[in-house]
Amino acid sequence: MQDFSGKVALITGGASGVGRSLAFALGRRGARIVVGDVDKSAMEQIAADLAAEGIDHLVEHCDVTSVDSLNALADAAEKAFGGLDLVFANAGIGAGESGAMWDYSEKDWQWCLNVNVWGVINSIRAFMPRLVASGKEAHFVVTGSGNGAYIILPDAPIYTASKAAVHAITENLHYQCQAGGLPVKVSALFPGPHVVDTGLFNSGRVRPEALQKAVAGNESGINSVEDMKKMAAEYGIELQTTHPDEVAEMAVKGLEQDAFWLLATTEDTDAKIRARADMILNRTTPVPAMVG
Ligand SMILES: NC(=O)c1ccc[n+]([C@@H]2O[C@H](COP(=O)([O-])OP(=O)(O)OC[C@H]3O[C@@H](n4cnc5c(N)ncnc54)[C@H](O)[C@@H]3O)[C@@H](O)[C@H]2O)c1
Repeated sequence: MQDFSGKVALITGGASGVGRSLAFALGRRGARIVVGDVDKSAMEQIAADLAAEGIDHLVEHCDVTSVDSLNALADAAEKAFGGLDLVFANAGIGAGESGAMWDYSEKDWQWCLNVNVWGVINSIRAFMPRLVASGKEAHFVVTGSGNGAYIILPDAPIYTASKAAVHAITENLHYQCQAGGLPVKVSALFPGPHVVDTGLFNSGRVRPEALQKAVAGNESGINSVEDMKKMAAEYGIELQTTHPDEVAEMAVKGLEQDAFWLLATTEDTDAKIRARADMILNRTTPVPAMVG
């Protein structure tokens, strides 16, 4: 897709972080933006900021754990703008788990799999039939994570498991669209190359009441990118971060080329992918990769 002008781009979890940056990157290229999110104050903020830039937009409450909520968002988008051209299944959370996985609260598993995995499944079920029926060129982009898709970082097993499932689903969706000769291009977006400075580490702010735990905050003690930096510094590591605008620009450039892999090329990323492939090919015992 070379020209985003007049196109309608719907972004789940679009009120903050990577989704918010995608909204502006596409809006500034003339796209009309639909944001679905559950964070009321972030939604108010992005609606005001998009309006201030004169970007056509619709910001609606939408919970990706409910297919009805996603269908309602799609209906609202079609009513406001007549159809959809780009869908970003982007909403995601970090459960903030820590310690032995057999001790995790069932609620941590449920919340993370509900949002990260069911959110993508529900988005496919709500939006794909509409994109296919339109018969037009369209993009379906799923925000995954390298952690789960091509490496397994230790310390966040629930998140990693969710993103492994998300990648398998995304790649299969691509194969199905390709096999069907459909004009829908599927892409896998990997925010990075470093930890992206977003609200992901403070996901507890949007944790539903029914899945709250007795303990407040994350058991890992990490509730922000700043906390991550401090913890890394204790191990003598200077944690590098990436601004979400950089991720959005990388994604848009990839979409212009109909790329499947929206994945920044860096020496470090490639070395990690190679090390994992070598480990499997050589049947060596896994050792944990480092965050970076
Ligand atoms: N930050 C990183 O380093 C990083 C790395 C790899 C992948 N990701 C992925 O990027 C995506 C975006 O996350 P981010 O880093 O921008 O974090 P973020 O917290 O800034 O943004 C996530 C958005 O999703 C929304 N959300 C949460 N639950 C929702 C629900 N049930 N329904 C609808 N919206 C919901 C939040 O309100 C928020 O606006 C996620 O899928 C995340 O897993 C992030």
